[in-house]
This record gives sequence, structure tokens and C-alpha cells, in this order.
Amino acid sequence: MDSERITLLDGKRILLGVTGSIACYKAVDLASKLTQLGVQVDVIMTEAAQQFVTPLTFQAVTGRPVYTSMWTSGGGSLPTHVAHVGLAESADLLIVAPATANTLAKLAHGLADDLLAITALATTAPILISPAMDGHMYASLAVQENLAILQGRGVTLIEPETGRFASGLVGVGRFPETPKLIGAIRHRLGRSGALKGKNLVITAGGTREPLDPVRFITNRSSGKQGYALAQAAADAGAEVMLISAARGLTAPYGVQVIPVESAYQMQQTVLTHQAGADALIMAAAVADFRPRTISDQKIKKTSGNDPLTLHLEKNPDILLSVKERRRDLHRPRVVVGFAAESEDLIAHAREKLERKGLDLLVANDITAKDAGFDVDTNRVVILDARGGQEALELASKAHVAEHIIQRVAQLLGQ
Ligand code: PMT
Repeated sequence: MDSERITLLDGKRILLGVTGSIACYKAVDLASKLTQLGVQVDVIMTEAAQQFVTPLTFQAVTGRPVYTSMWTSGGGSLPTHVAHVGLAESADLLIVAPATANTLAKLAHGLADDLLAITALATTAPILISPAMDGHMYASLAVQENLAILQGRGVTLIEPETGRFASGLVGVGRFPETPKLIGAIRHRLGRSGALKGKNLVITAGGTREPLDPVRFITNRSSGKQGYALAQAAADAGAEVMLISAARGLTAPYGVQVIPVESAYQMQQTVLTHQAGADALIMAAAVADFRPRTISDQKIKKTSGNDPLTLHLEKNPDILLSVKERRRDLHRPRVVVGFAAESEDLIAHAREKLERKGLDLLVANDITAKDAGFDVDTNRVVILDARGGQEALELASKAHVAEHIIQRVAQLLGQ
């Protein structure tokens, strides 16, 4: 994950409660990455946590004092008050990571005998917990019942991972890596965003059109722009379904991914979910043609220098099929297309917007090296159905995505 500022996180105040687990060293990375993303991170360490990592380590990565005792004052927005009140009042979110069985028990039963437990009681901010412990301990009835109590009160559980523990045993209870934790934080903070309660279907990646069991025709789309859109939509509180032909990208936290291969599969999946979608964003680069026949066996080299002739036939146009069904369904309410153009950008894009019945069309000039396929940045012009045209400066695909999602939210709000 790069450390570019993310609107949702920038300037937020997050309390990180660290409890006594060997996974404490990973919480240092979490504190560091959050700080780099523009978050003000205040760390509260229990006594047990300090057996694993010193407060100085967290202070060094956050640039802020670390809180270890409930008998101190200062903290957060109320510097003259006892620490837990100031910290609790000013927090946008409290994440307890790693959370030991002992701290879970305290939180579940309302104990108030250390700074973290008392702050958790005092705060009205959302609380996330990321348990980390040995597999049998995690599976124990006591821990599971405490988790159920906490979840029943609206605390969000970040499921631990399955894998190898420091003990060498294998099971469920491993502390997740930083990107997953940050994803969970984004997901929780975004819940009340502009797209709260809205369902978005987003497509990403380049479709693969098979020739035989080992070969296919595809294009240079990496899926990065589509995944960035899915993340931005999730940040805005949407339920996101990502229909993905991309490979090797990690799905944003909380986003449902449906993997597909070919244009036909993508079309069928989009149409299946059309009626439930408030908005559809087609960022995928869909192959316009596919081999007319798919060989069951690997195609052999031709003898001598004989060329191999491939017969291609047209793929269905997904946006056109959506347009057709939209007349009856009146869904999705907003449809966004992309256009990857190498000449006459605006004219071609405008023609696609009209022909495919789109509300917005995002045109990328793929002749620029820093825009379009595979790179991390994009330079786009957004056209709308009323003839409007908005050119964005070169920006990361994440920022382009945030902007497009804002435009979608505006249209859905109208
Ligand atoms: O994936 P990245 O590496 O991050 O790159 C991002 C991108 C350049 C792929 C993306 O920003 C983009 O421009 N996607 C659309 C590329 C494209 O195929 O454009 P098009 O002009 O062929 O298609 C126009 C629109 O119709 C697109 O929304 C496309 O998804 C859709 N389409 C195309 C063909 C088809 N058979 N059915 C469709 O619905």
C-alpha cells in the first residue's frame, strides 16, 4: 500500500489500543502506515503490551505521546482532563489491535481497571477489535462468548487469519497484515458516507477470450482503475460488487468480488446483478472480439511456415445490453462507461456516451505514458449526458476514482 493521502483517513483521529501479544510488533507497522496516511494516531498500551514493545517505538512512528496509565491527564481534545476522557471524546475510531483474550474479557464485561478498558467505556466512537491469540484459545467458549457480547453491542470484529503461530501450531487466531486492518478501518469509517445504502456494481480488468486450453486473447488492462473505484465506493459507504477479470490484485476490504474470464461471462454476471444495482461502472476493458471456435486441444504448430488463421467474431456489448434492459427495469439509476481512446478523444467518447445511453463517460487518453492501461496514474475527461465536460489533472487512480464516485453520488442524490 502506498502512503498517498486518502480523503477518508486524512486528518482522522484514531486511537490504537495495543495489548500483550507477540503480534505487538505488527501493530507498530499499523501505527506507522496510518500516520503516513495522514491519520493522527494516539496509542494506548496495556502493561502486558509493554513487555513486547516499548512505548518509545510507537512514539517514534506516530510522533505523538503514548499513553500507558490511567492516572495521567492530557490527551486528545481535552488536554487538562484525565487522559481517558480526552482521548475518548476526540477519537473518530478506536481499534484494539492486537486484542488479547484478557482485554476482550474486560471489554465484554465492562471492567475499567486500565486506561484502554476505561477509554473503551468512555468513547462513543466506533470500536474495532482484532483478536490475536493461539488457535485453541481463540476457539474457546469463553473467548467466543465475549466476542458475541461485543458484537451484539455494535463492536466490529476483524476476523483473525488462519496460519502458523509463533508457537509453531497452526490454527485460526493470527493477527492480520496491515493492509487488511487499514481496509477494515476504512470500511467502518466509510459506513455513513454519501453512498450509504447504495449498491454499486463495478467491472475491472481485461477479459480473456480463450483460443484453446492454454491460450487466450486479452489486453493490457491491469484492473487497477476498477479496483480503485471499488475502494472509493466502499469508502463512501456503498455495498460494492466487483466483477473482475483482473489477476493478482487484492480486493478492497468488504467488497464482494466475482471473478470472470470472458466478455460473455462478464455480460452474464452484470445482467444477473443489474436489477439490484443503483449504479454500474464499467471500467473493464472488454474484448470486442473472441475466437469463433475454442479448440478442445492445444493448437499444434503448423508445419513449415504456414500461417495460422484465426477467425474472430464479435462479443456482445455489455453496456448496450444493459441499456436495453434498463428501459423496463429502470435500474441501474446511474451508468458510467469508460473510453480508452488513442485519437479524437472527446468526439469518440461523446459518441459512445450517447450510443450506450450513459450518464457519465470517463475518457482516458491512452497515448499518454502516465495514463490509461496498467500505470498507477490516470488523466481523464468526464463527460456527462447534458453535454458537460470536466477535465481532471493527472492524478493517482485512487484520486480519479474518488472523484468519479463523488459524481456518481451526486447523480444518485438528485
Ligand atoms: O485496468 P487499468 O490498467 O487500470 O486501465 C484502466 C482502463 C484504461 C482499462 C480503464 O480506465 C478504461 O478506459 N476502461 C475501458 C476501456 C475500453 O475498453 O474502452 P472501450 O472504448 O472499448 O469501451 C467503452 C465502454 O464500453 C467501456 O466502459 C467498456 O467497459 C464497455 N464495453 C466495451 C466493449 C464491450 N463489448 N462491452 C462493453 O460494455
